[in-house]
Amino acid sequence: MLLQYYLLFAAALGSAIPTVSYRNKTRTVAGIEVPDTPLISKALDYARKNMDDEGYNHVVRSWLTGQASLSHMPEKDQRGIDLEAYAISTILHDLGWSINPELISPDKRFEVDGANAARDFVISEGGDEWDKHRIQLVWDSIALHTTQDIAEYKEPEVALTNLGIVTEMVGPNISKGLFAPGQVAVTQEEFDAIAKVFPRAGFRTYFRGVMIGLCRTKPVTTYKNFVGEYGVRFVEGYSLQGKREIDLLESDVVD
Ligand SMILES: *[C@@H]1O[C@H](CO)[C@@H](O)[C@H](O)[C@H]1NC(C)=O
Ligand SMILES: *[C@@H]1O[C@H](CO)[C@@H](O)[C@H](O)[C@H]1NC(C)=O
Repeated sequence: MLLQYYLLFAAALGSAIPTVSYRNKTRTVAGIEVPDTPLISKALDYARKNMDDEGYNHVVRSWLTGQASLSHMPEKDQRGIDLEAYAISTILHDLGWSINPELISPDKRFEVDGANAARDFVISEGGDEWDKHRIQLVWDSIALHTTQDIAEYKEPEVALTNLGIVTEMVGPNISKGLFAPGQVAVTQEEFDAIAKVFPRAGFRTYFRGVMIGLCRTKPVTTYKNFVGEYGVRFVEGYSLQGKREIDLLESDVVD
């Protein structure tokens, strides 16, 4: 109730309120100040229960990295952003490679499995504060988290989810070159402090293994995003031949 109130209040008064939603109740995780709500705690528990250690550390690092970046932005750029929806989106963004088989479909790309699982989570746990718009924000943020060139033109929560995750993966220096000037504002010190508490532990190798696993276990979902390139490079017998969009378009578009 209180949170909803802050959100509506900030939205209704617009620029008169130089505040960020949830500013009132925060806590510090790995040196980063984050909003503290019951649903965020539940999402962390849910991710912890359904992800392996490396996956869990990655989603938490992603949340903290984007939040830290946002915190350095000018006040006007932070205003009105639904920090709880952003937190839920980042924390639950990789349920598509959950260790819980019930969350994994045979036929949907991992981003969609994650978006669906997170939507189910907020519908069952979120309560009245979760209207259609907020639920859709979470779904879109997760479904588009690997598609920067769409996410960056969507709602700020969607853009920030993508930015937090990308920056978590490549670090602030490289990430600055991938986003508009000023958008990646997390410092190297913050990035390193986050990794002290939620260790990277060979994340590139881990991530490669997850992608290879998707190519092996549900190849049909890997042809239209970047995942298939892992198959081509690392999986014996995997091929995109005849599976790319261009193959369909060139053979089936009615001339
Ligand atoms: C936060 O909320 C509490 C109670 O709701 C209030 O007493 C306190 O002044 C608030 N703090 C800030 C910084 O707004
Ligand atoms: C990031 O860039 C700065 C400035 O160019 C450089 O001093 C620093 O070593 C770089 N850090 C990493 C981890 O690459």
